Order: sequence, then structure tokens, then C-alpha cells
Amino acid sequence: MIIAVDGPTASGKGTIAKALAAHFGLPHLDTGLLYRAVGRQCFLDGGDPDDAGDALAACSFPDGLLDDPHLRDEGSGGLASRVSVHPSVREALFERQRAFAVQPGGAVLDGRDIGTVIAPDADVKLFITADTETRARRRWAEMRERGKTVDLEDIVADLKARDERDRGRSHAPLVPAGDAQVIDTSTLDRDQAIRFVIDAVETALARE
Ligand code: DC
Repeated sequence: MIIAVDGPTASGKGTIAKALAAHFGLPHLDTGLLYRAVGRQCFLDGGDPDDAGDALAACSFPDGLLDDPHLRDEGSGGLASRVSVHPSVREALFERQRAFAVQPGGAVLDGRDIGTVIAPDADVKLFITADTETRARRRWAEMRERGKTVDLEDIVADLKARDERDRGRSHAPLVPAGDAQVIDTSTLDRDQAIRFVIDAVETALARE
């Protein structure tokens, strides 16, 4: 069983994907981490993330980079959003994601284009969303917990810029698959959101 979980930054899709993987006993891949690693490697190489050649060269990052705590920073998120615009980067990362999706027994993947490009054949497709203000407040609280004080206004501006880039790119833009279930978590807390998606997946599977 393949479960595709897509959605914008700070929508809660990562938390939801992890919870689904634990509930259904499936392996989980956070595909954003791959793009973050490319962005970070490009930065470490002194490359330009907006240059397709520099970004493609960074796709051969060492696997150990995936454990780098810097990948969780906002800076790496911004770099990831920039390198992910290049079709050559998306192609370079395709096989790794596709192989994970089709492994025997199934998998949960979260990202932006799982239901549309990586696993259009997924058994269940979810598109997790929440309004910008809610996402910014969640991100702000998360950063505060990690000891970082950031202006809420700056987070709102950053989320809007990343949404615009992720939705506006010509190759594999952030859009719900036609057959995805769109779930707005704006009014749900973490536990309610998890309960809701587990129910949604169980209902979808029962219908199959
Ligand atoms: O989910 P995230 O915030 O870690 O993703 C960081 C960036 O990576 C995001 O702004 C766009 C890109 N990305 C993508 O283009 N496709 C994916 N499947 C996952 C992430």
C-alpha cells in the first residue's frame, strides 16, 4: 500500500505522514529532506541554487548529509525550494523516491508531488493544507521550542514566498492530484489531525 501525503510548508504533512507510517507499520520517506540536502550541498559547494548546473551537481550529496541538523533550518528550506525548481534536479531525485514508493509491502511518502509525479498509482492520496496564519504560528512555536526567536511577520512572508515558488514552478508544481482528498487542518490540533487522517485512510481502503 502506497500512501501519498502532499501539501505546503508547515501544513503538518510531515507529522501526519509519520503518524500514518507508525499506525500502518509502513516505512516513511520525507522527500523534502532530499531537496534540503541538495540545497545545503549546493551552499557548501559555494554554488548558486538558482543555477541548474550548480544545483544538479549538488544532487550527488553524500548520504551522511541527510543526518545534518542544519537541514531542518529555515535557510535549508529556502535553498531547497530554489533548487527544486530545476527539472534536472527533480529528475535526478526521481528514481530514489520511486524505488522507495514501490518497495514490497508499501510506504508512506510526504512531499509536494508524490500523488502527481512520484506515485500517481498511490492507493491513498492526501493533500494536507492549513491557512497561512495558522501555518506561520505553528512554525513560530516550533522554532521557539528549538530556542530560536523569530518575528511572526517574517515567517508569514517566508511561507508566502515559498508557497508562491512551489506552486508557480512549471515542472511538478504543488497542486493536489485530481483524486487526492484535501484535508484542511487549520482548526484541528495535532492529535485531532492525526485521528482524522487515520480515519480518512481507513475509509479509503475500505472503499477499495
Ligand atoms: O517539505 P519541506 O519544507 O522540507 O520541503 C522543502 C522544499 O523542497 C519545498 O519548498 C519544495 C521542495 N520539495 C519539492 O519540490 N518536492 C517535494 N516532493 C518535496 C519538497
